[in-house]
Amino acid sequence: MSDSETLTPTSPFEQIGGEAGVRRLAEVFYDIMDANPDFHALRAMHEPDLAPMRTALAGFLTAWLGGPRDWIEQRGGFCIMSRHAGMGITAITSRQWLAAMRQAIARTGTPPALAVKLDQALTRLGEAMVQDRRG
Ligand code: HEM
Repeated sequence: MSDSETLTPTSPFEQIGGEAGVRRLAEVFYDIMDANPDFHALRAMHEPDLAPMRTALAGFLTAWLGGPRDWIEQRGGFCIMSRHAGMGITAITSRQWLAAMRQAIARTGTPPALAVKLDQALTRLGEAMVQDRRG
């Protein structure tokens, strides 16, 4: 029986390739943000050293996609919306985040059906984080 015929659906975490797949997505996302001048405004919001962000994003996405929740538990809980409150996220920096993530999703060969779902969910999240509607 193939995976698609079993009764237990695989989680997005498994579909993306488990720990290694999620880590790769986070790495490629920050590589793209760092290298592409189109994302300058977004890059400028971050510390020069992106290493802690690579680990944090991989840890968050692991739990968010249905994998182990260790990263969140080690912090004693985590709210993605509160964490981004007060950053002054604008429509521009939100669009940049989503564009960089879309490129990362495409470059890491995420299965197409999952890529569509991720895009929808991340777009909702990213748009909800916009606080400064002027930019
Ligand atoms: C909407 C546009 C977004 C912008 C402009 C943005 C910006 C940032 C910035 C500047 C930081 C670093 C904060 C610091 O150094 O203190 C950060 C951290 C983080 N962001 Fe975002 N972000 C956005 C959306 C998202 C989304 C949609 C997710 C999750 C899917 C996400 C996940 C994270 C995580 C996990 C951290 C690390 C938090 C920590 O370690 O405490 N971000 N973000």
